[in-house]
Amino acid sequence: MADKKSSVTQKGEKVSPSQEFKKQAAIQSLAEYKRLYSESVKNPKKFWNTQAKDLLLWRKPWKQTLKWKEPHAKWFVGGKLNVCENCVDRHLGTARENKAALIFEGEPGDQKTLTYRQLHTEICRFSNALETMGIRKGDRVAIYMPMVAEAVVAMLSCARIGAVHTVIFGGFSSESIKDRVNDCSAKLVITADGGWRRGKIIDLKANVNEALKGCPSVENVITLKRASNRVHMKKGRDHWWHDLVANASHVHKAKAFDSETPLFVLYTSGSTGKPKGVLHTSGGYLLGTTMTSKYVFDLRESDTYWCTADIGWITGHSYVVYGILSNGGTNVIYEGAPNEPGPDRFWSIVDHHKVTIFYTAPTAIRAFMKWGEAHIKKHDLSSLRLLGSVGEPINPEAWKWYHKVIGGGRCPIVDTWWQTETGGIMITTLPGAAYSKPGSAGLPFFGVVAKVFNDAGREVRRGRSGKLVLTQPWPSMLRTLYGDNRRYKETYWSEYDGVYFCGDGCRQDKDGYFWIVGRIDDVLNVSGHRLGTAEIESALVSHPSVAESATVGRPHDIKGSAIVCFVTLKDGYKGNDALKATLRAHVGGEIGPFAKPDEIRFATALPKTRSGKIMRRLLKDIAAGKEIHGDTTTLEDVSVVRQLQEQG
Ligand code: WT7
Repeated sequence: MADKKSSVTQKGEKVSPSQEFKKQAAIQSLAEYKRLYSESVKNPKKFWNTQAKDLLLWRKPWKQTLKWKEPHAKWFVGGKLNVCENCVDRHLGTARENKAALIFEGEPGDQKTLTYRQLHTEICRFSNALETMGIRKGDRVAIYMPMVAEAVVAMLSCARIGAVHTVIFGGFSSESIKDRVNDCSAKLVITADGGWRRGKIIDLKANVNEALKGCPSVENVITLKRASNRVHMKKGRDHWWHDLVANASHVHKAKAFDSETPLFVLYTSGSTGKPKGVLHTSGGYLLGTTMTSKYVFDLRESDTYWCTADIGWITGHSYVVYGILSNGGTNVIYEGAPNEPGPDRFWSIVDHHKVTIFYTAPTAIRAFMKWGEAHIKKHDLSSLRLLGSVGEPINPEAWKWYHKVIGGGRCPIVDTWWQTETGGIMITTLPGAAYSKPGSAGLPFFGVVAKVFNDAGREVRRGRSGKLVLTQPWPSMLRTLYGDNRRYKETYWSEYDGVYFCGDGCRQDKDGYFWIVGRIDDVLNVSGHRLGTAEIESALVSHPSVAESATVGRPHDIKGSAIVCFVTLKDGYKGNDALKATLRAHVGGEIGPFAKPDEIRFATALPKTRSGKIMRRLLKDIAAGKEIHGDTTTLEDVSVVRQLQEQG
């Protein structure tokens, strides 16, 4: 795959949007993009002032656009708004009032549509319920739910009353719930009895019950009845969603909050065993996601938009909930797996709901390629007009397949580079304005100053590789890591002075297009999920049999990275297949099923330098089955390498 990518780069293959697409697009030419881009970076204050006034509803105007005391930013200082009002209330009394805000499809096939008016009623009821439960501005609320309409209601209700949500992906284990709830001392957990996945019920409430054995901050739990599986409800602590809203008024007045009011904390993996609580605030985040939704997805009033991401990840926050609803868009949300009951489920959804914009991850695209075109041909995909990709670099082969087979050759593809930390899309090609180069994310979005630096902190020449940095603050940037300003500074602002380092390697070609190479820190991208190798290692060593472990990624055709773990055992344990299975299950239990190692190799020792550092570069090569080259003279015990190789 890597070879194909570079050959395409050399050829500089370009794919342009059709005249038809261009004619109706918000930005219609490269010249128009360049003019706006240059305005946005030459006079950012003026640019963001105009955008914030045009795109958002403010209760009180701001006094200062940006207060920047590196590395801490405050945007629209003194301004007041309500994020939920922007996403829902402001569409009432307009033509959007009876427009579908959410079209939900459950895995078993049940469907429900909420218009903006209906969504508003649900949110008002639930906001009142939250307030009755004692939830106030600034309180943290954990949400651990399936991908159902009520999860969106829960998030927006928190936003409405100024509570800070932390959504925990439904694939996380009880241990992971506990860590996150405790890190932010959540007072309330909102969950469901269960959710559907591949024809089975995921017992979400049981996971919450288990986690709450060790979460002293949690006072109440609200449970949505979704899968009707039997659950244990603890008296005094547990409440059914339907009981609470049945008694709640459908009238709720949204208060105005300061622009810098925390909106949510979202945990993401870093290079230590402890996930980082990325904190986003209100005005700047909403502006960034609203504006990118409008221009990158070229949202039109008639669009039916479907982003396949779960609300447990940033993509679900920014491009299912906040950015899309703020624009008054129609969102499709789907609860289950892409191959339930068959590998054509996504295409049946696109066909049935006449989806016009489809946003998914390369790992999913590669799975569809593998499953074959026959499943796609069964459905009419002619409603699609724009496709998107996010989460990892998309290999040109998958790009071209996506363009031809899903997009029928007529839909531009926006390959969007961004991160949990950036809040919104930072690098992409605006679909009506710029040509795409398969495999390259493209050009910086308005206001984004992206550069490729060498280790010394100087910009490298075009065509050379280096580290991707952002040199100007932007409205939707993270504000800090929850409760840990020091780690915030160390992680993002210490590689180079005054510059944000994102953790990705990158190269910019002669046309200024960015080619993201992938993470250069100890973070893996597994099926679009970000995982720290240290997290997996600490899960492994928490098992009684494990003395030491090292985890690396190995390129994988569908998942992007496969997880390979090297393990040394304590005396008295035997490294056999049964123990491998036990350890895989153990990691699944500690983090979540999606983090289960693909491969475990046992060794009497791990390859280390004489100073005791694990030689990860070497382990990566061993995992990939490569010849061991390079300098191994610092290796303490050469025989362990052979031992590890032999198990491949
Ligand atoms: C990391 C961020 C952004 C939402 C989903 C993942 C990688 C993301 C792309 C892309 C190449 C990409 C980067 C980034 N990444 N999008 N279009 N091309 N790489 O969010 O979990 O915060 O992960 O995903 O490595 O740093 P995340």
